[in-house]
Amino acid sequence: MAPIPERGVIAVTGAAGFLGGWVVREALDRGYRVRACVRNVDDGARVGFLKSMPAYASGRLTLHPGELDRAGALDEVLKGCHGLAHVAHVSSYSDHDYVRRVCDHVIASVNGSGSIGRVIVTSSVAAVISEMDMNEVVRRPVFYEDRYPDELNPRRTPERQGYSIAKLIAERAFADAAGASGEWDSVTVCPGDNVGPIQSPHQKEGGPWQHLIELMLGGQCMQNGVYRPWMTVDVRDDALCHVRLLESVTVRNGERYIAWSTDARKVEDICADIARLLPELNHETPAVTDSQAERIKAREAEFRAIWAQVSLRNDRMRAATGITFRPLDDSIRDCVESLIAVAGVEVKRRAPAHAVPA
Ligand SMILES: NC(=O)c1ccc[n+]([C@@H]2O[C@H](COP(=O)([O-])OP(=O)(O)OC[C@H]3O[C@@H](n4cnc5c(N)ncnc54)[C@H](OP(=O)(O)O)[C@@H]3O)[C@@H](O)[C@H]2O)c1
Repeated sequence: MAPIPERGVIAVTGAAGFLGGWVVREALDRGYRVRACVRNVDDGARVGFLKSMPAYASGRLTLHPGELDRAGALDEVLKGCHGLAHVAHVSSYSDHDYVRRVCDHVIASVNGSGSIGRVIVTSSVAAVISEMDMNEVVRRPVFYEDRYPDELNPRRTPERQGYSIAKLIAERAFADAAGASGEWDSVTVCPGDNVGPIQSPHQKEGGPWQHLIELMLGGQCMQNGVYRPWMTVDVRDDALCHVRLLESVTVRNGERYIAWSTDARKVEDICADIARLLPELNHETPAVTDSQAERIKAREAEFRAIWAQVSLRNDRMRAATGITFRPLDDSIRDCVESLIAVAGVEVKRRAPAHAVPA
């Protein structure tokens, strides 16, 4: 029901994660007070980067236990907050009763806070585009907020599409609960593939996009999806979208907004981009490893042609937030540099050219 006030208080779940960590930083940069919810406030390897932020020293940033599997975990921390960015993953995406229980835990804490006016639920483009049948992509190739996967496809099971189904369960659970409450609203962000700088070494394992770039640096380039290109957003832009939607005076309960720049690039091109963008690294661009099943490989040209026809739209996010998305080149460059500088990732380099005899 209410945008967050200037200098107000925002809680962030999954604050030690790749995206959550950037939501914390963007919110602090915009002057808010931030309560970072993490599973273990004493796990230095995961939360050290939060504790080293200057706002932690002043007390404007505080850390709180936020294990969402436990009912009531957020009860105290949400009291007095104006907004919640609910960014965290959950422990399982295939057990949908569990997913509903986690939603119920968070919703009960929001209802009990007496102060929260808006929740941003982090969903995924998986809840927009994940199809069991690629003909569905051919039939509906425009990827925008009102597009949903074919939910009636009998092959859309928790085992095959657990993540996509779980994200839609969460989107709807929060919107329904907010509507029933009348005290707060729930707005969904569906991020594309997040690329950009990590802030802590442990974040290199996640994504999976930053992890795939880590593997590329080390000499492995892996084909993903059914030859789906990366459809990307810079993690910093994604975070800013979250904060600006908390601030927005135009968004309404139940609305969803896709966060992606509309850049789409083939995995092999991303791998080659490392040498193009950072020639100083002398990176040896590896060949692509394709671990798809033979029946998928046989249809590679067909799948690539289908993806080439899709149209990615971000009109709604740009209108609601005024954001200008960074180009993917900047995200790749900054991801690579952070993997090396923050996480000490080793680069497989080309053999030096033979010295010219004197
Ligand atoms: N990365 C992408 O490309 C992408 C794309 C679309 C959507 N998303 C969505 O964006 C969100 C963040 O993704 P990410 O890439 O930043 O992931 P991430 O780096 O793995 O961070 C996720 C965080 O979720 C927390 N978490 C996991 N299970 C939890 C539980 N049971 N209770 C409380 N916290 C729990 C973890 O907290 P601790 O560190 O405290 O253990 C972790 O820091 C997710 O909801 C994801 O689905 C990401």
